[in-house]
Amino acid sequence: MTTTTVPSPALSEALSYGAAFAEFYDQNLTNFVRSVAAPICGVLAGRSGIGNGQWVVDLGCGTGVLASALLRQGWRVACIDRSPAMLDIAGARLREAIQIGDAVLVEGDIASFALPGEVGEVVAVTATDGVLGHLLEVDRFRQVFDWVGARLVPGGVFIFDLYTLRSLFEFNNVYVFDTADELIVGRGLFDSAGGVATMVLSGCVPADPTVASNWARFNEVIRARHWEEDVVGEVLSSRGLGLAPATPESIHLCEAVSELERRQYIVEKP
Ligand SMILES: C[S@@+](CC[C@H](N)C(=O)[O-])C[C@H]1O[C@@H](n2cnc3c(N)ncnc32)[C@H](O)[C@@H]1O
Repeated sequence: MTTTTVPSPALSEALSYGAAFAEFYDQNLTNFVRSVAAPICGVLAGRSGIGNGQWVVDLGCGTGVLASALLRQGWRVACIDRSPAMLDIAGARLREAIQIGDAVLVEGDIASFALPGEVGEVVAVTATDGVLGHLLEVDRFRQVFDWVGARLVPGGVFIFDLYTLRSLFEFNNVYVFDTADELIVGRGLFDSAGGVATMVLSGCVPADPTVASNWARFNEVIRARHWEEDVVGEVLSSRGLGLAPATPESIHLCEAVSELERRQYIVEKP
């Protein structure tokens, strides 16, 4: 028997998601962000110094569900994502706000991007549904906090969640989405020694809902990493960020997130 050695994929992040997966994500995988959107708005509304018309930066904005909730409450939002396909859906969702200058979309890497000049003081930063878990290297993880520590105004907050070990162990499974509109199979594994989970999702979705049997096939790789609490604590304190004191609104947000699935953080810049 001959064996072939292939390079370990453990340290390569997933590529930018394509159009078919973005559509599938928007239709099927936005439960998490929909459950935290209102409580996140509540946390921001409950903080003095954070008011209407100020800018929130949503890192890994996906299809713009959180941005849309923030805009409805009167904030302006800069949305960063590396996937043009996810941004296309966000762009359609946020069209009016973009037209009047209340929202901007930035295609870029959350560990290294520049905001357009029209974005003013940043009073809050968000990263929902495990976005920071998609960064696999500690230096890239630190870069996000460098940017947040430098750009957030004093008194501003950074709200993010991280995958728990339990949620990463759930990648060790096969998932089938078999509905009238799509047939998708996900199969994954969690390398607990390396702390990185990989899921391959492939299948077919309608290419054009108005044309029967016109399918678009996609194949996406999702990678997610466990960030240990002590790493997060060190990164926060070295950037002058600390956990925000509990308030009724922050307790409400934490209660909206299953602690088996995600660790929720609300940190502030003094
Ligand atoms: C699980 S989705 C979450 C989307 C959105 N925050 C939500 O809650 O629905 C992860 C998003 O992060 C984006 N993403 C992952 N890594 C990224 C990176 N390094 N830079 C920019 N975007 C990234 C993906 O393209 C995707 O849209």
